[in-house]
Amino acid sequence: MQKVNIILVGFGRVGRAFYELLKEKYDHYRERYGLFLELRAIVRKSGTVLLSGTRKMVSEAESGSGEKSELSGWIQTFSLADLLEEFKSGVLVDCTPSDLKTGEPGYSLTKMALSQGWHVVTASKGALVVHPSELAAEARKNQLALKASGATAAALPTLDVGLHSLAGAEILAIEGILNGTTNYILTRMADGLSFSRALMEASEKGIAEPNPVQDIEGWDTAAKMIIIANKVLGTEIKMSETRVHGINGLTEEIMARAAQIGKTIKLIGRCSRESPGAPWKVEVGLALLNPDHPLAMVDGSNKGIIFYTDCMGYVVVTGGKSDPRGAAAALIKDIISIYWRDF
Ligand code: HSE
Repeated sequence: MQKVNIILVGFGRVGRAFYELLKEKYDHYRERYGLFLELRAIVRKSGTVLLSGTRKMVSEAESGSGEKSELSGWIQTFSLADLLEEFKSGVLVDCTPSDLKTGEPGYSLTKMALSQGWHVVTASKGALVVHPSELAAEARKNQLALKASGATAAALPTLDVGLHSLAGAEILAIEGILNGTTNYILTRMADGLSFSRALMEASEKGIAEPNPVQDIEGWDTAAKMIIIANKVLGTEIKMSETRVHGINGLTEEIMARAAQIGKTIKLIGRCSRESPGAPWKVEVGLALLNPDHPLAMVDGSNKGIIFYTDCMGYVVVTGGKSDPRGAAAALIKDIISIYWRDF
């Protein structure tokens, strides 16, 4: 049995879902993996709340005491550095918004946590897009994990497959549907809905981000593919070198034309190179898929990824719908993989 200290930074939709899932499944993580996943503090812009640990919160909720006051005491007194020092070691969970230009605030807090001996598990893409090598080197130097399932299509396993399941095989290309919002919109437009109506549904269901521009314009797909490629292929691809087209401008007429010729329109991220030794490139854009393409049947907020390899054929993973609970589950999977000995 092992006790794991957790500090959560960011308390938006994914941060809240993480907090709820941790409490809901606390006993399962303990019984199945021998891990006491103890949430010690939540940090957000407006302050910090110190918690008594997940076990105490769960038992207080069960006995009917404590539930009301649990998240009421947000104070400015403790800095993140203080908290990292106070609890000594554990996992910092980064659920802050992704800034794909500066990488902040994820960059600064990831560096701080790694330099103070904490593992980092992140759902935020910015830092890994802007400073991939520096952060990987910092983690290696300190023999700590920097895990990013939550930032690379979350509930859909991508990095785990590329790094572990395909270890030893040469990956020749990667392609995927990595954004649930755009896939949901495309699916609903194929059903006959307008773009704006489909986007509204995606927002109502909590699939789209509060500001869905990064989803719609393809930047979210590009960021995820860059992180996957950098980690799995050892590349250092920059966003500025990436060709990105989203689904904006797509009309019901274009969807109908595609259907008439028996094709499905999908937003695809691709990482490939012209020949062995040539530079890897990432591009994102709409593709017309034949019905027998492995990604053609990926519907709604589900996603999918294909790894083309030299000796394992092509490997496809589909499913892993986009929503805050799925993203929270991906964060917890990464925490379990750091500590569970039988992983
Ligand atoms: N909004 C994203 C999606 C999840 O639709 O898949 C955040 O990366």
